[in-house]
Amino acid sequence: MIYLADSANAKDVAGLMDRFPIEGVTTNPTIVARERADFGGLMADMRKVIGPDLMLHAQTMQTEAGAMVREALALREALGGNFFAKIPATAEGLKAIRALKGMGVQTTATAVFSAQQALLCARAGADFVAPYVNKLSDLCVDAISVVGEIVRLFDSFGLKTRVLSASFRNVDQVNQVALMGSHAITLPVSFFDKLIAHPMTDLALSGFQADWRSVYGDKKPEDMI
Ligand code: E4P
Repeated sequence: MIYLADSANAKDVAGLMDRFPIEGVTTNPTIVARERADFGGLMADMRKVIGPDLMLHAQTMQTEAGAMVREALALREALGGNFFAKIPATAEGLKAIRALKGMGVQTTATAVFSAQQALLCARAGADFVAPYVNKLSDLCVDAISVVGEIVRLFDSFGLKTRVLSASFRNVDQVNQVALMGSHAITLPVSFFDKLIAHPMTDLALSGFQADWRSVYGDKKPEDMI
């Protein structure tokens, strides 16, 4: 499973990339609006920070297929590099995904809440589908099983579409979708520290420090070899 950052803040992503192995960035209109800044500027800054090779997924705001396609093409032109147009999993979205596939534009079907939505988007030619895990859990749906079903369907039918799970509230959800075989995951920047932090790791490190100091004081291993 690969990790992406769900963010429209280039500075936050730069700090994250410095420490964590991420393969790209996803945004959505809510995340962009949170920044209260010009969309073009935000995305240009993001592309500058992540470079041309990392994935940048940006969402179209249109609801009719033709308009989605035109917007996706404009976004790809402006944002360049490894670009994915995020297209909502609607009937018009399916039409747009199919058309964009024909034009060689990579797409991510977004706002996916069921395995059948995911399968249809994959059949239409989506490169990724994004099931919303926590938003499903909030509806008392077993979101982890939905992700598992999507992975299984893609495997069974030999589809190359990858699952990009989104919407998380806790580390266990992240681990569960990884175990289900989700190919990718997108998380808010602040979430990554929760994945790596463990109190037992901190305790083990304090023990190593104390044991070393009890014999060698402030000397460093590199000074002794
Ligand atoms: C998809 O683009 C987002 O990751 C998703 O909407 C975030 O979901 P949340 O609002 O539950 O965090």
